[in-house]
Formats: sequence, structure tokens, C-alpha cells
Amino acid sequence: MSNDPDTAKTSPLVRAWWKEAIVYQIYPSSFYDSNDDGIGDLNGICLKLDYLKNLGIDVLWLSPIYKSPQKDMGYDMYSDYRDIDQRYGTLDDCDRLVRGIHDRGLKLMMDLVVNHTSDEHEWFKESRSSRTNPKRSWYIWRPPKYDEQGNRRPPNNWRSVFQGSAWEWDENTQEYYLHLYVPGQPDLNWENSEVRNAVWDLMRFWLDRGIDGFRMDVINLISKVPGLPDAPIANPREEYQPAPMYYANGPRVHEYLKEMNKEVLSKYDRLVTVGEAPFTHDMRALAEYVLPDNHELNMIFQFELMDVDSSGKTRDNPLVPREWKLTEFKEVVNRWQTYLRGEGFWNSVYIQNHDQARAVSRFGNDSPRWRAASAKMLAMLEVAQTGTLYIYQGEEIGMENVPRSWPIEEYKDIATINYYNRIRDERIADGKGEDPDMSDVLNGIQKKARDHARTPMQWDGSKNAGFSNSVPWMRVNDDYLSWNVASQIDDNNSVLSFWKKLLRIRKRNDVLVYGDFELIDEPNENVFAFKRTLDSQIAIAVLNFTTKDVEFAIPKMADRSSTEQLRLLISNNKPELSESEILAGNTLRLGGYEGRIYVLGDAGTGGVHTVG
Ligand code: NOJ
Repeated sequence: MSNDPDTAKTSPLVRAWWKEAIVYQIYPSSFYDSNDDGIGDLNGICLKLDYLKNLGIDVLWLSPIYKSPQKDMGYDMYSDYRDIDQRYGTLDDCDRLVRGIHDRGLKLMMDLVVNHTSDEHEWFKESRSSRTNPKRSWYIWRPPKYDEQGNRRPPNNWRSVFQGSAWEWDENTQEYYLHLYVPGQPDLNWENSEVRNAVWDLMRFWLDRGIDGFRMDVINLISKVPGLPDAPIANPREEYQPAPMYYANGPRVHEYLKEMNKEVLSKYDRLVTVGEAPFTHDMRALAEYVLPDNHELNMIFQFELMDVDSSGKTRDNPLVPREWKLTEFKEVVNRWQTYLRGEGFWNSVYIQNHDQARAVSRFGNDSPRWRAASAKMLAMLEVAQTGTLYIYQGEEIGMENVPRSWPIEEYKDIATINYYNRIRDERIADGKGEDPDMSDVLNGIQKKARDHARTPMQWDGSKNAGFSNSVPWMRVNDDYLSWNVASQIDDNNSVLSFWKKLLRIRKRNDVLVYGDFELIDEPNENVFAFKRTLDSQIAIAVLNFTTKDVEFAIPKMADRSSTEQLRLLISNNKPELSESEILAGNTLRLGGYEGRIYVLGDAGTGGVHTVG
């Protein structure tokens, strides 16, 4: 493997600390409450740093902790980006946390939310104060349109991601402003260089304070198509239409990110950057953010796998689940795992975050019989892929979705609530009564809502799962008595212990981080198997995605005489066959949700061989 900086441009195999890093995402409100107000905080995170270090992670990513009215849980930033929301603590607490992180040899990535601000941000207050205010053009203002009856209408038909029009009328200045999310999140006008310079300044502020990088919120939305044309009618029944074709990967986005790189990122050493890039599966367009020659970002989060179980023509309806097939799932993973490796494209590997339901409930099986096994199997899927690995809080203990019995009142997310209310209003308007049946909608929400990721972290079996001594801001999931960190930490068979083993294995086996990816037996609807190759090292992952026992034949490898030297690196089940039996037939018999990773050749330095 080369360390020559010249080859960094073209080879995916060039080492970089951030490629090998294991990132752990913290949702601060729900991680750990140190001051008994029911909300997680920075001092709470400090108290758990040893736990995280022990888990084997390298980088912490914090969802926003900046001052915010919390209309979208801090993804609406307020007054000044340079201040911490009091629910999380103070700037001093933040400095202490940064020191605690660095003292343990870990790094800190902060969320950067600059597609929009809060409507209570000083910039927006000035912008809306008059049409001639110098900050007027920091946001996207447009005059109204009028229909034939003379009714005032928004400037175009764009639908907000969180329902309704993407435009809000401002009575005072008699214009609309654009908000792709809630009205409390007005979009910044990146065409204005003053806005860009202000963003560069705030990035420098945090980098100079010692943080190690940024996760950039919806960074692919910062450039909109000029003229802001009406979106095509996708849903004839609805007044407002999805318009990502006019705001995702817009015409100037790469110019802006190159400028960001030149003005800020390139001036600091050893940063890590990952841009969130939803509403598009266009691989080539997404790769442009990441290819080393482009000098923009290290990685992006693309959403193709996260959308696999969403309905809608472009899978844009996340709260209405669809059935998915393992072959579809594999096809998506395979495409991204193998994409443009020669040009240096680098993946972010994740299966869960604060905007997604719990992976074990979506892609595994959260029934008591299979929950632990499938959580471990999904962990193997993650750890065996190439790319930088991201773990979301609670994933390491197999946290699951909240039960179907929870009423809508327990859901706190604005996206869930707005969606539920829209459908309810439509049903009332359709004459389905004042209290229409909403059970189908709740079924979907129970599978897919963002809220599932946001319940408090389950630390132990004490009151409120040990998360807080006071009433938590969001209800703790009902299963906390048996599913928590304390009950798993000393249990060698637990999901948590399994994650720890897997992370150690990944650190010791370069083939898992850097190796080429190749599917095995692509049409198989039960088993997801793939091979990873790095020089003479080979790893093979075989993952049973069903509750049934299955047989799986590992094919003879062209470049090897047989699979004779296959060595089991890790399994989430006691293999029923001894290694010699496997060698004899090459056919494995896997129990429900059983997964195994084998190595061949000199991978697995240190002779790691773990069954857990
Ligand atoms: C993406 C964030 O991950 C999500 O939580 C938020 O609602 C939107 N961007 C708007 O900032």
C-alpha cells in the first residue's frame, strides 16, 4: 500500500487516518443527562468518554449543540453559531469536552448547518427587517405571484421537505422567503459572497478551538437552480411538489465547496469532512464532492440504501415503507462499494443515524428470538465494507424502534408530526370523519420515523434507563430493563461485546478497510456474501438475512487451489461445523441471521479468531 502523496489523487488504497477511523455519532439530547433536566448535555458526554474509548471508536460526531430554538432539534441554528445552547452547556463545557476527547486520543467532528439558519438568527432578523437591509440578500426572498382570482400565491410550487409550501410569507416586507425545511429554517443565499465569507469565518472559529472536522448538513442543497422554476407535478392531488431536481446538486455547489476547501479546509492539517447529500442517487454527481482531484470533501453520506425501504417513485416517501428484497439491497451496496475506486472515491459506511429508524428493526429482525443475532449480523455487514465506518449511538447495544402501541403523542419529530397531520387533514377533508382511522399511517411511522433513533440512550436498568434522573425530553423505549449497556458490558455474548470484537478485527485487518469488494452469488435472496481482496489478503463475509437455516457454497477462487486455507475470523453463532468440515466441502450451513467472516492468506494479523 502506498503512502506516496502523489498517488493519493488516484488510488483508493492510499492510507489516511480518516479512512481507517471509526466514527461514533452522538445525538446530544438523548445521550446522557448530567444535570437532571431530562436533556442530554456536554458534561454528560464527558462522563461517557471512557466508555466510548473502550468501545474502540476514534472520532465523535456531535449532532448540533449550538444555540437554537430547537424547531428541528438544533438543525435550526440561532443568534450566533459560536455559542452553545444552554440545554447542552457552555462554551467552557465544550472546551473541556474537546480536551477530554483529545486526551484520550480521539477526535471531534461537529455538525455544520449552513444551508439554512434559524429564523431567530441575527442574520435573518436583519434580513427580514426591511427590503433594503444590507442582509436582505443573505436569504432567498421573492415577490408573490397571483392567481387568476387575484389570490396571493408563493413564487413557485416547491414543497418543503417537512410538508406544505417551501415559502413563507413575510407580512412586514410583503415578500416570501424560501425554507426547504420548516419555516423556522430559512435558506441562506450562497450566491452572496458575504454569506460564504461568514460561513468560512464560523468554520475557522470552531477549527481554531481545536475541533477536527465537520459533518456538513444537506451540503448538496446550497446552490439552487436560477429562476427557481416550478417543479413537475409528481402528485396531482397535492398543491406543492417535490423539487429536489432544482435544489439538490445545484449548478454552483462545487464552486462553493472548492472555495470552502481553498479558504478554510486546506489551511488545517488532518481534518475529516463528510457532506450529507440526500434527495439524489446520481452516483456520478455525488462522486464529484469526494474525488480527490476535486479538492472538496473527504466523503459524503449518500442515501440510496436508506431509501431502499421507502415508497414513492424516487423513494422519496420515507414514512410509507415498502417491502424490499435482499437482491435490491445487495445491488445498492455493491454499486457504491465498487464505484470509481480507481479515481479515489471513498465511501461512508453507515446503516443508521439520527434521521433513520433503528437498523435492527428495518433490516434485521427485532423479535426477541432474532434481535441479538440480527443486530450482530448487521454489525458484521458494516464492519466488512470498505469506507469510513459510522456507528450511531445505541446501535452498539442493538437498540430497536419504539413499539407500535405508542400513540402519536409520544413522537416528537416535526417531520413525523407534520406528515401525520397532513394525512389526517386530508382524510377529514375527504369526508372520513373528524377522527379518521390513522392506523395505517401509524404502522408506517412505527417502522420508519426518525424518532426511533432519538429515544434516550439505554445505559442501565434503573429509572429512565440511567439516562436522566428527571423526566426525559422523549420517552425511554419500553425495553430498557433488559436492553442496556450495563447488562451487556460484561457479557461476552452481548451485541456490545460483539461490536467491540468487530472493531478490533477491523483495525487489525487492512483488507476490511481498503480491500476491493466483490459480490458472491448475487441472485441469492437469503444470503449476502461478498469477498474483499487486498494484495494477497482475502476476506469473505457470509450473512444470512433470514430466520431459516440455509446452506451456502463458497465458490472456489480462481486464483487459489481451493478454499482450504479459509480461517474463520468471527461469527455471531457457534459454527456447527468444525473448520475442517468447512474445508472439506466449502459448503456452510448457517443458522437464522448467522454471519461469518473468513480470511484467507495473511490477513488477520495477530491471529484474531473470535466467536461471540
Ligand atoms: C439533515 C439533518 O440530518 C436532519 O436532521 C435535519 O432535519 C435536516 N438536515 C435539516 O437541517
